[in-house]
Amino acid sequence: MGSSAGMCCGSMGAKPFYPSMMEWPALTDEARRAIRAEALNRLGSGAKVLTTEQYRLRHALMSNDFGMAQDAIKAAREGLALTDSGASALRGLDEGRPPRQIALRWFKDQTGIEGSDQISSDDGLAGLSWWHLIAMTLLIAALVAALLLRSARLRRITRLVERLTPPSMPLVAAAPGSVIPPSAPAATPLPGGVPTAVQRPWKGILRIKAIFDETPNVKTFRLMEANQGSIPFTFLPGQYATVTSEIEGQKVRRSYTISSSPTQRDYVELTIKREQYGLESRHLHDHADIGDLLEVSAPAGRFFFTGKEAEGIVLIAGGVGITPMMSVLRSLTDRSYEHDIYLLYGVNTPADLIFKEECDYLARRHTRLHVAYIVSKADGTDWAGPVGYMTADFITASVPNITRRRVHLCGPPPMMEAVKAALGQLQLPPDQIKTEEFAPPTGGPVADTEPTIPAAEDIPASPPVQSAPTFPSAHATVAFSKSGKTGSITPDQSVLEAAEAIGVVIDYECRAGTCGRCKIPMRQGQVTMEVEDALAADEKAGGIILACQAKSAGDLVVDA
Ligand SMILES: Cc1cc2nc3c(=O)[nH]c(=O)nc-3n(C[C@H](O)[C@H](O)[C@H](O)COP(=O)(O)OP(=O)(O)OC[C@H]3O[C@@H](n4cnc5c(N)ncnc54)[C@H](O)[C@@H]3O)c2cc1C
Ligand code: FES
Repeated sequence: MGSSAGMCCGSMGAKPFYPSMMEWPALTDEARRAIRAEALNRLGSGAKVLTTEQYRLRHALMSNDFGMAQDAIKAAREGLALTDSGASALRGLDEGRPPRQIALRWFKDQTGIEGSDQISSDDGLAGLSWWHLIAMTLLIAALVAALLLRSARLRRITRLVERLTPPSMPLVAAAPGSVIPPSAPAATPLPGGVPTAVQRPWKGILRIKAIFDETPNVKTFRLMEANQGSIPFTFLPGQYATVTSEIEGQKVRRSYTISSSPTQRDYVELTIKREQYGLESRHLHDHADIGDLLEVSAPAGRFFFTGKEAEGIVLIAGGVGITPMMSVLRSLTDRSYEHDIYLLYGVNTPADLIFKEECDYLARRHTRLHVAYIVSKADGTDWAGPVGYMTADFITASVPNITRRRVHLCGPPPMMEAVKAALGQLQLPPDQIKTEEFAPPTGGPVADTEPTIPAAEDIPASPPVQSAPTFPSAHATVAFSKSGKTGSITPDQSVLEAAEAIGVVIDYECRAGTCGRCKIPMRQGQVTMEVEDALAADEKAGGIILACQAKSAGDLVVDA
């Protein structure tokens, strides 16, 4: 009934809709036009509310946000009531009923009061019929009851949030007035009080609200909650999101670091380089548009820096590897981090520098931020900065006392190898270096519509493997104990690929050894894993493997 009360008080000019109708003695042309206009207006806005709320409800249910689901249902009821009032009025007009009777009929329907259609309105109080007064009293009582219920619910939610929020919760405060949604993952503190990578990623739909061209082949996609609310998860600067798209009938999942700062609660941004023959990056660059919805899971990853892990940080990025550094940089400067931040950024040509203007701007405002760029080719440009590669000399010239500092490194594999070697040369202890590799997935669907002879620079370090269900010719076997299936596995095939080849489902996300989604227990055999970032030491000791990385030349038994 709360919605009915709202509808009753909808305005038509200065007067409420139905009460104003009751003042018309007869249907003059002017009255008929006014009623029709207001009724059509209600039909239109009611239908709009219904569409929006239906979408919000679906989104809320997908993300297990039952509070939002209830809000959506409530708002949908209001939308329904709006549409209903519009339709009733139009019907009344078409059936030639006098306005007073249309309004009385509506009150009767809304309150459920039975009786003749010819309700007398001759007697009453202060010029209002008794029936009118009863209806109004019932509506006001319903409104008061709805308000009381709502306030009780808000008190319950506040108590729940207080109970669920750990004392040292997020680095980032939720937007004023908003509550952390039930599906927002909890951050577990690491020894030393630093929150770890989040355990349970949020899954749901975000809407592309803006697309920015950063360089000729890099775009930033700004994603917002579909109904303009706060971003429904928290993340740490440097963590990534996984986007799932349906491309040519196949589900494709790729991970992209969130380049925006977690201090920004209204949106997250993904900055994506278009790979010439890449499936997902080409799809997003060439087909995604403002207003489109994206299936997203986030956050994941351990390559974050919140400012608490060390006093000062050196961020070394190559190409699109700037994305985690940008989130760190934005977050630290937003929070006026009081230690030194060094950003060393290397790219191919000056035109490939992503976020240069913003980095320069931030460095002008924050005296503790020091930025140094280097490009490997500057011919034909007006570039006046250093030209070459990220060598030990360049690092020493850009960062004083490098051996005492924590370094975060992300970029193309050859650049990362070269920088690691240079840092070793400079005697930086390896445990002070944290890295993230934007490894392409080691399996799953790949593009087959483009030329198969790419330019040399487009050949990935480990090219994606066609995931068509083929049986490789190998003598080693992998037995999947839960599904009772056994398949063959070649030395260059991962357990995940071997599983997919015979229809055994193992959940996966990054296919790069970083998210941990594909962890499974191994019962027998031995595997090697190129990347095992997602495994803790005790998991490794306990025989847990990453199916996307695990390869073997011998027989295996795994739980899947
Ligand atoms: C933790 C993490 C964070 C990441 N963050 C970012 C980020 O912030 N920004 C970003 O841009 N990327 C990021 N990546 C990389 C991203 O996940 C994808 O790997 C990348 O976008 C390529 O995906 P794709 O589907 O376009 O290419 P894929 O189809 O997977 O192809 C991968 C590579 O193979 C080549 N290739 C594909 N098909 C063919 C073919 N038929 N013939 C020859 N070559 C082919 C492509 O050119 C490409 O280089 C990240 C990766 C990880 C693991
Ligand atoms: S799928 Fe992410 S670690 Fe294997």
